[in-house]
Amino acid sequence: DRTWRIGVAGLGTVGAGLLTFLAEHPGFAPAGGRAVVSGVSARSRSRPRPFDISNLPWFDDPVALAQSPETDIFVELIGGSDGPAKAAVEAALAAGKPVVTANKALVAEHGAELAALAESKGAPLLFEAAVMGGTPAVKMVREALVGDDIKSVAGILNGTCNYILTEMEASGRSFAEVLAEAQRLGYAEADPTMDIGGFDAAHKISILAALAFGCAPNYAAAEVEGIAQVELLDIRMAKDLGYRIKLVASADRSEEGVLVRVHPSLAPLNHPLAQAGGALNALFIEGARVGRIFVQGPGAGAGPTAAAVAADIADVMAGAVRPVFQAPAGTLRPFEPVDPSRS
Ligand code: HSE
Repeated sequence: DRTWRIGVAGLGTVGAGLLTFLAEHPGFAPAGGRAVVSGVSARSRSRPRPFDISNLPWFDDPVALAQSPETDIFVELIGGSDGPAKAAVEAALAAGKPVVTANKALVAEHGAELAALAESKGAPLLFEAAVMGGTPAVKMVREALVGDDIKSVAGILNGTCNYILTEMEASGRSFAEVLAEAQRLGYAEADPTMDIGGFDAAHKISILAALAFGCAPNYAAAEVEGIAQVELLDIRMAKDLGYRIKLVASADRSEEGVLVRVHPSLAPLNHPLAQAGGALNALFIEGARVGRIFVQGPGAGAGPTAAAVAADIADVMAGAVRPVFQAPAGTLRPFEPVDPSRS
């Protein structure tokens, strides 16, 4: 039985969730073989953690971990679209190693070039945890729906914003107070501006658009408005009128091109998006043949996100190699943004 040696870079919320999962499931190997953590890297070695890393080989530099001959699968949980995360992912792929990442910013902003590198080396690049972590979305769109022509994807893709909007309405507490709670629960990004500003949801919908439409991800083309301007008064007035304010991310394909947007929207109180409370994520997919699909579930937090990372590790162990997006990188359609003045 093959032993897969897993190098984990980044020990924040998701990294902690993954190490906890692997420690509790030492036999995790749905495809046979064995998964062992062969090295870790993070900003601080000595920071107090709820698990022991003293017996694991330590790497100050994630690039060195990615390139180590002891690393068979490189798991990138550092975050950020550039800097060490990108350098380490590129180093692993250049060495032909499978990469599993939860990094939506990296995939949304550099996905096409990373896909070309991964495919030229025959190395899988998997990112189930990048969108709706814990609720199947990436594999569903890329694999299970590859036989359909998807017209649109739309939903709630940021747990922190959904938690803030839900709790403000339910308890009348302030934006800042609820945000602090979302941070304690491990939902929020290291820089919560990414959540509040709508940028995290924009990264995720850009990835789904690429997977659904067979185009290169184009985060720069997304129109983004977050929830910073939403006040308790707005939430109450919307409710009096029979609506709930939700941060909705959507991607539509038409003959004119692709339109990717994130903005606060009014959902009728009996609509499934209005009823997705707390930190839940929810997604509608509209396909030409399959029709309408709705999924709802977690999208943030250590346990769910680590489960999605583990699913990708299982895919690598099973030998799955598919195009990174819906089609090989060299054949992806250009992303043609719709001229917003026409929408
Ligand atoms: N900050 C993100 C969220 C984490 O709140 O949804 C999961 O990507």
